[in-house]
Amino acid sequence: MKVLVTGAGGQVGLDLLRILQARGDEVHASDVTPPSREHDVPWHRLDVTSEPEVSALFAALRPELVFHLAAILSARGEADPMRTYAVNQGGTVNVLEAARQHGTRQVLFTSTIAAFGPPLPPLVPDDIALHPTTMYGVTKVAGELLGDYYFRRYGLDFRAVRFPGLLSAVLPGGGTSDYAPLMYYEALRVGHYEAFCRPDATIPLMYMPDGLRALVELSQAPRERLTRCVYNVAAFSPTAQQIADEVTRAVPGADISFNPDPARQAILDSWPRALDDSLARRDWGWRPEYDLPRMTADLLPKLRALLPRA
Ligand code: SER
Repeated sequence: MKVLVTGAGGQVGLDLLRILQARGDEVHASDVTPPSREHDVPWHRLDVTSEPEVSALFAALRPELVFHLAAILSARGEADPMRTYAVNQGGTVNVLEAARQHGTRQVLFTSTIAAFGPPLPPLVPDDIALHPTTMYGVTKVAGELLGDYYFRRYGLDFRAVRFPGLLSAVLPGGGTSDYAPLMYYEALRVGHYEAFCRPDATIPLMYMPDGLRALVELSQAPRERLTRCVYNVAAFSPTAQQIADEVTRAVPGADISFNPDPARQAILDSWPRALDDSLARRDWGWRPEYDLPRMTADLLPKLRALLPRA
């Protein structure tokens, strides 16, 4: 199958390329920046805000399946809301329209816990009024709605997951959930980390292999089993202190401290503490494999291999 990944140079994209290649797809990567690691997939420079560029790439490749990952995350997004609007919202409508025009069968979209905002119940279901507090969240809600529109209006097979904060050996860029991966990364790299959140900050988190499996399994689910286009997916919801305790247990001598940044803590406070993913479990058999200790056991050796302690 011919697959195009937008935002392929980001935290999700770099690992997703390998999975798609391993299953034998003809994978094409695109990003506004060149690849940061060696890749043996064709890499297309693409600015998703440019409708002519997006249309031309889709016309040339005619991808059957598209993973549309290109986006600016929440914290970086607040530094430049208009650019975030252009990339996240403009980019998504450009991709959906090009997919419609050039015969793409299915578009996978990565939405987020940032789609939600207060007031929220302790366990947040799929269907609840959406009050995002960041431009990133606003544009992800708009992306969900646009995709749903393209599905109903044109029959484009649009599917999306609302991801928790993701942790992997690839560092994210500019997210508000970054305190969690940074605890692991900095504990190994320099032996200490000052988190920008309170110790009791609690949001849904997920280890990347589960996140990638969610994307691939949703993509492969028979459409007739799906009752919606957009699904919550969940794994675990530790407090920041619990992550710090886990890191200091696994990396003896690491010092994790807390110095909350009011802006980023306010974003965290606006997000769900836990997601109800029962509809994903029911419709396409979603189950996470990793909890916090299992993730730690898998992630630390990978990070150690990349990052000898300074
Ligand atoms: N990880 C994202 C962020 O922090 C949330 O989806 O912006």
